[in-house]
Amino acid sequence: MLTNDLDFRLEPRLRDLYEEHKKRSAKIDWGYHEFLPWDKAQDFRRVPWDPSQVTLPASVVTAIETALLTEVNLPWFTSHLAQTFKGSLTVIQDFVHTWTAEEDQHSSLLETYLLITRSVDPKRLHELHKMTVENGWQPDFHTPFETMVYTSMQELATMVFYNNVSKEANKHDPDLGRLLRRLAKDETLHYAFYRDIIKFHLQLEPNYCYYLGHVIKNFQMPGAVMPDFEDRMAIIAKEANYGPLEYFDQVLDVIIDYWDIKNLRPIAPEAEKARLDILKYHDRMKRVKERFMRTQK
Ligand SMILES: [Fe+2]
Ligand SMILES: [Fe+2]
Repeated sequence: MLTNDLDFRLEPRLRDLYEEHKKRSAKIDWGYHEFLPWDKAQDFRRVPWDPSQVTLPASVVTAIETALLTEVNLPWFTSHLAQTFKGSLTVIQDFVHTWTAEEDQHSSLLETYLLITRSVDPKRLHELHKMTVENGWQPDFHTPFETMVYTSMQELATMVFYNNVSKEANKHDPDLGRLLRRLAKDETLHYAFYRDIIKFHLQLEPNYCYYLGHVIKNFQMPGAVMPDFEDRMAIIAKEANYGPLEYFDQVLDVIIDYWDIKNLRPIAPEAEKARLDILKYHDRMKRVKERFMRTQK
């Protein structure tokens, strides 16, 4: 019988992972007040916002705004995780609390940065923020294992996004580059936790392969619910270092390799079929990427 819940036999190992996470995150603990250029702040009532005050290129603003509108949906991510892991391993429920506390300052940091530096129309930003949270987030998977596969990929993709955008941002404002690298560090630790949980499960029971495919093949950033998401991502791909090429090389390829999908040997025929499907999907994406690279030359 294939299960899509987490395996209770792994609880002690996951406890160790969680303790390790807390140690590592305590070492890099930070408050968002430390990363903002407060001396640039001006009262919007005294000095109203005007487009001429924007100094960053539009592509960088789009990237930061897109990241912000992803992070603001934290209440819905937490609610999804809390519901999904209810009755599952308590260590995961504990981690969701720690994770939420860590994620909670990401949107504050990005939003305050945009407001202080006057990089966006504050009224428009407020409306987008509200609209995005009101829309919420409804993923099409609900089981503990699939949710954990998704969060592994999402944390890795977010880490890569921040690191890549920081390279472009740094050229225009080193404060922004530094702030994005800091966010990336948090995402790195989150990614490490989730990805190892999946790895332990696959090692213990390769039949879990059955539940990998749907999430891997349909992965979409959680921000996909915000207005104009596709247009935003097209701009970011072109001018801020994160697009389908980076997704393939730095996310999909990395995770398929880390979980060693090539060498897993599930017993259940449907799990083996799922494993081969993932490898086929990976090959197809690789060919698409190579074709695209050739047309770019
Ligand atoms: Fe985050
Ligand atoms: Fe994260």
